Amino acid sequence: MSPPHDFDRIRKDDNTKWFHPWETMAEAGHADRTIVSRGDGIYIYDEHGQKLIDGPGGMWCVQIGYNRREMAEAIANQVLRLPYMNPFSLTSEPPVQLAARLTELAPGDLKHVFITTGGSTAVETALRFVHFYNNIKDRPGKKHIISRANAYHGSTYLCAMVTGKDRDKNWFDVASPLVHLLPHVNPARRPAGMSIEAFCDEKVKDLEAKILELGPERVGAFIAEPIQASGGVIVPPQGYLRRCWEVCRKYDVIFIADEVVTAFGRLGHWFASKDVFGIEPDMIICAKGLSSGYVPLGACLVSDRLFGEVAGANSRGASFGHGFTYSGHPVCCAAALKSIEIIERERILEHVREVGRISSAD
Ligand SMILES: Cc1ncc(COP(=O)(O)O)c(C=O)c1O
Repeated sequence: MSPPHDFDRIRKDDNTKWFHPWETMAEAGHADRTIVSRGDGIYIYDEHGQKLIDGPGGMWCVQIGYNRREMAEAIANQVLRLPYMNPFSLTSEPPVQLAARLTELAPGDLKHVFITTGGSTAVETALRFVHFYNNIKDRPGKKHIISRANAYHGSTYLCAMVTGKDRDKNWFDVASPLVHLLPHVNPARRPAGMSIEAFCDEKVKDLEAKILELGPERVGAFIAEPIQASGGVIVPPQGYLRRCWEVCRKYDVIFIADEVVTAFGRLGHWFASKDVFGIEPDMIICAKGLSSGYVPLGACLVSDRLFGEVAGANSRGASFGHGFTYSGHPVCCAAALKSIEIIERERILEHVREVGRISSAD
């Protein structure tokens, strides 16, 4: 039997020693967070053994639920076989298999997968790739990134710049002249009397007008969550995303779909871009549900078109000088492969589509 937990001690150390994400500084030292001691299926249990439904699935990431023995075994087996591999000069099976699997599941020609440590590092990878790509293509001015109010794209520096939530930026420096935020796309906050269709027209125009104001030759990318998640679960008007994608294609602007939340079943499909919104982005970002939150992992999928334009004979001798010690981590990739297998075997995507239909009809 394991020794009894000293929850008073854990709470005290949590209050005083663990500097949490989004720490409310006024409460630092006495935040008294609930201590979660275990999870099982859709439930988590607090330190008193009280059973709670984990509605959001952690932070929208525990797609397959808690206490999955086969996840533990896949992770443990990979730890014993090969816990780490240098991704710069070597390779190993799990990241290769995962990259191949993701290219099968992804829409369009997203055939190249950069594996990262989470969502922010995947978004950062995409944004840096846009700059790298345009440098190689000898378009040094085509660097501006357009994002939107209420967007959340992560907490590394550049990701935080394209994040459009004031609360996440107040008290920090905001130093990127290359980032532009469009007004919000929340239909619930459209002007009184305006139809959804007119609101949609206006929002698409916001994007086109910003591209024209900056000059298409200066705009590298537009980044968007198909549904803005932490900005308030904002579902854009019907047709908005597709029309924005068409605008991007018209002006040769890279369309980055940040599917950190919407992929891996959250909307009933592996990826929402094509199956829900009818678009084939130039890049897709995923994380969270990719590994069901059991281990940290993210990925940036790049289209064959973009990749080919800066690879091989087109590369001008460049190397993509970007990556992480834990890029393609074998243990995390083995966990993701197992999670994908479980989602598929248990028909979780189908289940989400069925349940979503019922709840949206109510
Ligand atoms: C849409 C979106 N992009 C990026 C991120 C950042 O991911 P991470 O927290 O894994 O760095 C998040 C996190 O919530 C997110 O919701």
